[in-house]
Amino acid sequence: MGNILIAPSLLAADFLNLQKDIEMLNQSKADYLHLDVMDGLFVPNISFGMPVIQAVQKLSKKPADIHLMIEKPERYLDVFLDMGAKIISIHYEACTHLHRALEYIKKSGCMAGVAINPHTSIDVLNDIIQEIDVVNVMSVNPGFGGQKFIPLTYDKINRLHNLIKSQNATTIIQVDGGVNLENAPILAASGVDLLVAGACVFTSKNPTKTIEELKNVD
Ligand code: DX5
Ligand code: ZN
Repeated sequence: MGNILIAPSLLAADFLNLQKDIEMLNQSKADYLHLDVMDGLFVPNISFGMPVIQAVQKLSKKPADIHLMIEKPERYLDVFLDMGAKIISIHYEACTHLHRALEYIKKSGCMAGVAINPHTSIDVLNDIIQEIDVVNVMSVNPGFGGQKFIPLTYDKINRLHNLIKSQNATTIIQVDGGVNLENAPILAASGVDLLVAGACVFTSKNPTKTIEELKNVD
């Protein structure tokens, strides 16, 4: 029980009271703080950028899991590495030289993540899985919080699980988008290691308790 890792997403926090929400997360059982960076180009939305993350990092005691939904993420890796991120995920669809970018992230002692959109097949990771610390299987089309979980994700998780096993890789599986207390037990049972949860945590009456409930689904 409680082996699954939980990363509440700041995107769903109260931006007028970020300090309060971060202090709540610091006291909670959350394992990571998920930070969604959007550029209005790779995804049809813009979230927050460096100054906000820098401020958050001063207060947050949870390791930062930075999800870059930006075109050509290699342009900004140094900036996010300098912020002391524990995981940096870049999108398969947004990065031409994925291998090089992953090596660059890992060289700094940060975990290298690859996020894939719902339409992107697991098969494209065949030749690169050994280099990836975290695969973020997007279970919504990235760009917005509070969307509905896409069921085809379940099959993708199974196929990713098989790929990791077949190559004896140490990659962990993350799922991001529409995660809630109903689908979390199914995801945990199918081998997901790290769940991102935005709306489910921050729209609940008692976010600390919801984080604990998510941790206890497996
Ligand atoms: C979507 C983001 C997600 C989002 C998850 O583009 O990558 O991390 O914040 O939020 P919920 O859990 O509300 O779908
Ligand atoms: Zn995300």
